[in-house]
Amino acid sequence: MPFPAQRLRRLRASPGLRRMVRETPLAPDDFIYPLFVVHGQGVRREIGSMPGVFNLSVDEAVAEAQEVYGLGIPAVILFGLPRHKDPVGLENFDEGGIVQQAIRAIKKAVPGLVVITDVCLCEYTDHGHCFILREGRFDNDATLEVLGKVVVSHAQAGADLVAPSGMVDGMVAAIRAALDAGGHAMTGVMSYAVKYASGFYGPFREAANSAPAFGDRHAYQMDPANAREALLEAGLDVQEGADVLMVKPGLPYLDVLRRVREAFDLPLAVYNVSGEYSMVKAAAANGWLDERRVVLETLTAFKRAGADLILTYHAKDAARWLNQG
Ligand code: PBG
Repeated sequence: MPFPAQRLRRLRASPGLRRMVRETPLAPDDFIYPLFVVHGQGVRREIGSMPGVFNLSVDEAVAEAQEVYGLGIPAVILFGLPRHKDPVGLENFDEGGIVQQAIRAIKKAVPGLVVITDVCLCEYTDHGHCFILREGRFDNDATLEVLGKVVVSHAQAGADLVAPSGMVDGMVAAIRAALDAGGHAMTGVMSYAVKYASGFYGPFREAANSAPAFGDRHAYQMDPANAREALLEAGLDVQEGADVLMVKPGLPYLDVLRRVREAFDLPLAVYNVSGEYSMVKAAAANGWLDERRVVLETLTAFKRAGADLILTYHAKDAARWLNQG
């Protein structure tokens, strides 16, 4: 009877041994926490489809930022809900805009926290698209001009990184040029380089009030069937001067994340999006899944696939669990 000489179970036999041979570390340092900021005072309104996630007025966002920083999470990403929407999205590049106010307040209260801003038109335009429309068509290059104004206003308010998410061709180059011309050469660009037209953004559109008024985003976001195209998108953003690349959504695109990791050496982020969060929360609320286990397993999978950074609504809970050991 031949016995196995190699018994891989030996190194799984105790917590100490497992810790020693663990290949993929996960820590609060890896997380970026999204915040949705709204006008008003003392506003803390839970999003129906995202339990534990809130629309926050600036004062409440500052309190949240303090908590996030205290948990060891290095960064937040801000999304703004403007007072008014219009065809261009004027509040998007207004010095008094909601995101600009939030950047200044958070930077003042928590100077050590990295502040990233989502840069897109969809939350600000009355039609809900990520582009300027002209005669019912997406006007790519007019959109680039608006994006340039938005990033300069975010940089002026003190953002460390701007994160364009509109899948506008040439957006990274246009933003880099606008920042440099505006005297913000040190403000970085985290590009949503590889962003798919995904059904998993549903709950976010409730949180950010950004659903398109007509049509969908298939003419600018990527077809979920395409992976080689992801390398083209990422390659262009590298050439255009991106500082950090992103793949979005996360779990259904781990293969894409791995391929982008292997092809490029820039820091790589993944967005564990709203629908991924809502599924876990709903299943956990029903007692169908162990939330802590599933969240830590999922976040570890992103690191294993090659992500350096994870944008996730689970960040605060996960940091708490990791800090407890
Ligand atoms: C804005 C933007 C979206 C998300 C991040 N930035 C929505 C969209 O593209 O419709 C989605 C994030 C999430 O689902 O958590 N363009």
